[in-house]
Amino acid sequence: MRAAIRTGLLGTTIAFTKDQPHPLPDTAELKPNEILIKVKSAAINPVDYKLPRFIGGKGVGFDVSGVVERVCATTDFSVGDNVFGRVGISSGSLADYAIVSTDRVAKKPEWLSFDEAAAIGVAYLTGVHAFKLGSVKEGSSVLVIGASGGCGLAGIQLAVAMKANVVGICSGKNFDFVRGESGIDQMENINLELVDYTDDKAMSEFKEKNVGKFDCIYDTATGSGHGENYVSSMAKLLKDVTGEYVQINGGIATLMRYFTGTMKPQQNFFFTSDEDNQTDLVEITRLLKSTG
Ligand SMILES: NC(=O)c1ccc[n+]([C@@H]2O[C@H](COP(=O)([O-])OP(=O)(O)OC[C@H]3O[C@@H](n4cnc5c(N)ncnc54)[C@H](OP(=O)(O)O)[C@@H]3O)[C@@H](O)[C@H]2O)c1
Repeated sequence: MRAAIRTGLLGTTIAFTKDQPHPLPDTAELKPNEILIKVKSAAINPVDYKLPRFIGGKGVGFDVSGVVERVCATTDFSVGDNVFGRVGISSGSLADYAIVSTDRVAKKPEWLSFDEAAAIGVAYLTGVHAFKLGSVKEGSSVLVIGASGGCGLAGIQLAVAMKANVVGICSGKNFDFVRGESGIDQMENINLELVDYTDDKAMSEFKEKNVGKFDCIYDTATGSGHGENYVSSMAKLLKDVTGEYVQINGGIATLMRYFTGTMKPQQNFFFTSDEDNQTDLVEITRLLKSTG
């Protein structure tokens, strides 16, 4: 079958091949809670090129949508169901077929195309997990840093759908993309403001005017290789005591604190969990549907 695989000496080169073995030969059995899907669409994220083969395995890609081709003995899924979600590490969604654990996928609603559904996995699950850590709810004030990226845009759409008051930071050249092409400007009663990080004056004014304002700052930009570290300059924009700063990248110091359980109060870091994604995938589609 066709599949993208990690190759090369360090396992960091990605090659598109046409001769990979089928993940489930005819005589093989699926493990409990596994289904085989024929991939209709797959999406990629920075994690796919960041992971070397010794961590990420041979197969490339997490995000997927497709049609169930075979099922294990006990599952609510049936052959022919349309599904979406994220495959496990090393399975690889950039392939003709993928085996996936049933708790990592959900049934695809009719109103989502296979392409749209395949774009949800990593970025939207990360957003949902971030907003759980940030205790975001209706009326919360949320700042999303890196608003035009995959995770940032998902964060903006989810926060708007949760009826939060949302501010996004991205480059001004992407304002139209964030508002227009993402479909946000077609949502009703949206409360979204965008700030251009390339405009020093606009950023200074924003920081001065919004001290102590936010319930949650979702930072998708710090530590992702763009050079800017927002953590210290933006922390003062959090509400005292109750505000939560949630970052999904960080330097050595942040990682050390995360792995030793010594994160500072109101500071959060996490890796998106792949446990029970099904519940969150269903919640994501509910939120996206609610915005029309
Ligand atoms: N911890 C986890 O579990 C987890 C999960 C998912 C992703 N991640 C990581 O999170 C990062 C973001 O992922 P992604 O998929 O959203 O990446 P992406 O689609 O490449 O987006 C990155 C965004 O960062 C913005 N940006 C660049 N420089 C900036 C700056 N100085 N200030 C504000 N924004 C800036 C860019 O916006 P402009 O073009 O407008 O400048 C771009 O849209 C990646 O490093 C990824 O590996 C971590």
